[in-house]
Amino acid sequence: MTQSLQGKIAVITGAASGIGKASVERFVEAGAHVLAADIQDEAGKALEAAHPGKVRYQRCDVMSEDDIAVAMEIANTTFGGLDILFNNAGSGGSPASLEEMTGEAWDYSQDLLLRSVALGMRYALPYMKARGGGAIVNTASVAGLSAGMGPPAYSAAKAGVIQLTRVAAAEFAKYDVRVNAICPGLILTGIFTASPEMPSQIKAAVQTAMRGTAPAAQPVRKAGEADDIAQTALFLASPAAAFITGTHILVDGGMLVGPRHSWDPVEQEQRQKAREKMWAGAAAESA
Ligand SMILES: NC(=O)c1ccc[n+]([C@@H]2O[C@H](COP(=O)([O-])OP(=O)(O)OC[C@H]3O[C@@H](n4cnc5c(N)ncnc54)[C@H](O)[C@@H]3O)[C@@H](O)[C@H]2O)c1
Repeated sequence: MTQSLQGKIAVITGAASGIGKASVERFVEAGAHVLAADIQDEAGKALEAAHPGKVRYQRCDVMSEDDIAVAMEIANTTFGGLDILFNNAGSGGSPASLEEMTGEAWDYSQDLLLRSVALGMRYALPYMKARGGGAIVNTASVAGLSAGMGPPAYSAAKAGVIQLTRVAAAEFAKYDVRVNAICPGLILTGIFTASPEMPSQIKAAVQTAMRGTAPAAQPVRKAGEADDIAQTALFLASPAAAFITGTHILVDGGMLVGPRHSWDPVEQEQRQKAREKMWAGAAAESA
């Protein structure tokens, strides 16, 4: 089985930046035609210009049901079908703690990160049925599996994406449509500096600082890059994953393998020193 997407037509949401953009590059390299959906028109059009005839940019706000339906339709009319959907668009959503949560903040995150995925699948399905099958990949997160990895509404939405992936895999199996999710760990993209309120010089400083610290954030001692996720999306979308559906793949450099002290020598040493201090104290007391 190969990772070729020759003759395949894909829709990728959140295609103008980060994971989505890297996936457009990988999918095109593998032979696919791609409808690149996003709300960043300038970056989206630049992507289209870089891949003439292979990529079409379509403005698509995944908070809008109409925009999602239209994006699928345009992929079909432009390229002649739809085989693959990568539901990837997103941001951190509302940063509110649960203590400070409002209904509006909660709904915003769920609409952006979970409802968008459900509607993407719903509007892609008729075209995949017409092609006799397809593959859907949804971007979840380590935040959907563990506390402390993202804001509460974001984490709940991403957990929802993991479960929605299983439910969709069950429902769509009869149409030969596979559905899987990816749980990225810390990936160096613009998501951490996407807020329009953040001044540009702060953005640059945050990005530099993150590039310095990212290799130590997990057991694998390299920074997570957008292409790490793009390669996994390509695999899941391709015939090489023909027997895989309803699952989620952690692409996190081992971040969730266990607590930090299980893999970080610095933390192990600190804990050992603390233990020795405690034993020395206990010995002194009992003497
Ligand atoms: N970077 C990480 O560490 C990380 C970790 C786990 C999960 N993720 C997930 O990966 C996905 C991609 O994020 P990224 O890291 O590449 O960030 P990014 O900011 O580089 O890219 C996100 C893209 O989504 C687009 N987008 C945002 N809101 C949209 C909307 N309403 N409609 C259409 N497009 C919209 C943005 O314009 C941008 O192009 C997101 O779902 C994110 O939650 C990222």
